[in-house]
Amino acid sequence: MNETIKTISERSSIRKYTAEPVSEEDCKTLIEAGLMAPTATNRQEIHFTVVKGNDPVNREIQNDLNPEAETTFYYDAPLVMYLSGEDTFGWSDVDAGIAVENIHLAAKSLGLGSLVIGCVKKVLNGDKKAEYDRKLQIPEGYSFRIAIAIGHPDTTKQQHFFDFEKNVSIL
Ligand SMILES: Cc1cc2nc3c(=O)[nH]c(=O)nc-3n(C[C@H](O)[C@H](O)[C@H](O)COP(=O)(O)O)c2cc1C
Repeated sequence: MNETIKTISERSSIRKYTAEPVSEEDCKTLIEAGLMAPTATNRQEIHFTVVKGNDPVNREIQNDLNPEAETTFYYDAPLVMYLSGEDTFGWSDVDAGIAVENIHLAAKSLGLGSLVIGCVKKVLNGDKKAEYDRKLQIPEGYSFRIAIAIGHPDTTKQQHFFDFEKNVSIL
């Protein structure tokens, strides 16, 4: 099995992290992995907002999402990235999804764990959108698409079961 397939097959969502920060070097590698992702018509429109886990904006989002939750939406990971895309470009959801998966797999290949996060969408694109756009430096005419929590894993998780017969047609 080559290294890429090994990374893909061993990846899983991580929901428990150590307090160890993600190094600046790894952080830069992960951002670049996102920037290297393909985009429709090579538009390269996805914006990446990189936030430390202890930044108050994460806490504020958590409060708006669910102040009584037992865990935070980012599972107290030391790093969170928020990806936003252009409102008038029809492929921005897909482009953000591809970019976040690049980051997710790159994190795994660096020995880090990560979690793709969609649950904050209604908070970030809801009544307080303008306020969060400003706080997260989301560009004008853009909206939040997807986030990813990243850190050193403090748990292991089995890869999910998949059903080849159910999901695949080979003509
Ligand atoms: C678009 C998208 C949004 C997701 N949002 C969340 C989320 O908000 N919170 C969470 O804990 N997991 C989230 N996940 C992770 C999925 O729950 C996870 O990928 C799925 O359960 C399969 O587990 P695995 O990634 O370990 O294979 C999201 C995954 C995707 C692809």
